[in-house]
Amino acid sequence: MSVAVGIHDLSVATAAHVLDLDLLAAYQGVDPAKYHIGLGQDRMSVPGPDEDIVTMAAAAAQPIVERVGAENIRTLYLATESGVDQSKSAAVWVHRLLGLPASCRVVELKQACYAATAALQAALAQVARSPQDEVLVIGADIARYDLDSAAEATQGAGAVAMLVRADPGLVTIEPASGVFTAEVDDFWRPNGSSTAVVDGKLSVSAYLDAIVGAWDDYRARGGVDYDRIDRWCHHQPFTKMAVKAHRALAAHVGAEPDESQITASTGYNRQLGNSYTASLYLALAALLDEDDDLDGARIGFFSYGSGSVGELFAGVVSPGYRTLRRAEATRAALSARRPLSVAEYRELHANVHADDDGDRTVAPVSRGPFRFTGVEGRARRYTRA
Ligand code: CAA
Repeated sequence: MSVAVGIHDLSVATAAHVLDLDLLAAYQGVDPAKYHIGLGQDRMSVPGPDEDIVTMAAAAAQPIVERVGAENIRTLYLATESGVDQSKSAAVWVHRLLGLPASCRVVELKQACYAATAALQAALAQVARSPQDEVLVIGADIARYDLDSAAEATQGAGAVAMLVRADPGLVTIEPASGVFTAEVDDFWRPNGSSTAVVDGKLSVSAYLDAIVGAWDDYRARGGVDYDRIDRWCHHQPFTKMAVKAHRALAAHVGAEPDESQITASTGYNRQLGNSYTASLYLALAALLDEDDDLDGARIGFFSYGSGSVGELFAGVVSPGYRTLRRAEATRAALSARRPLSVAEYRELHANVHADDDGDRTVAPVSRGPFRFTGVEGRARRYTRA
């Protein structure tokens, strides 16, 4: 008999600062409606110098480890496109900060914003084979574009940690999945660059090609009819992209798009900005926290990573998911961010060091549970706050 496997627990972390896009719009002389309505974004998280994907990933996962204990966690996958080393997996630092057992495999995965979904699929396969195992999947990213670029208002930072196990309390992920891969130069970050290179218009069309391609593959591999999916979570580089994706898929299948199927999923991304690998699962967190009527509902998921890979799959919400929601903690993390002026934000943005700059000490700024303390002997150092 096959075991139900899926997401049992889910926890969100973000950075110490926030920039209101009204301030950015005023600075740029842009109509703020372009951001609020045109892109569907209100604010973006901005990390302090003592934060990165390691500190956010550990902060996201810590409450899960406190709740379930570390002893059954056999694998930790950390998906990111904001890696801090070319060789050592960021997951190894997270493993230490969380106090996970030595008998736990760890690895970092990369394929732009898509990699957390590859990690989730690997985790599901592991638990299906060894139902006593628990797997931590974390997506953590910092979206950085050049100052004064068209993409600037779509920056952000955040991490989502998920515990994958048998008999999950939140969502059982179904086996059918559709994949679409096509090499395209829509978005990438060259070695040595702290900001991404992006062809914005091409990235939007590549995303839409991928959702349609992944849907066709999903259906060819036994995925359910469109009208059997009750809600949708799409990757959200900006929340209007989820609307575009929803409309494009509905047009492809000949249905009328029902935007109420995605509205709740956009709540956190609107406030946090793009968190790349974490964004899709932040959409899931928002949906579970906002929607009280999900018992037995089927959610469609579309994961997109530029370059490009898309995957579409579905999951069914467990009855009783409400008792496992973490809305209070997520809202507290969002409201704990310190508001920045545009001048402070621009200074933080400009002040990103490459580790090749040599050893340095980083003073504490953020109030999260973990901090990046600097580079010593060319190695990055982290500590509990
Ligand atoms: N009031 C209301 N709406 C307004 C407005 C106003 N005053 N002014 C403009 N708008 C609307 C526009 O009509 C447009 O809406 P539609 O797309 O629905 O037509 C929207 O605001 C954006 O306006 P522009 O297209 O003129 O914006 P832009 O060219 O300056 O920048 C962008 C948009 C290209 C997406 C840019 O933000 C960007 O490059 N972002 C980064 C790349 C990205 O996020 N791509 C998404 C797909 S790739 C992916 O998903 C992976 C990933 O995470 C990066």
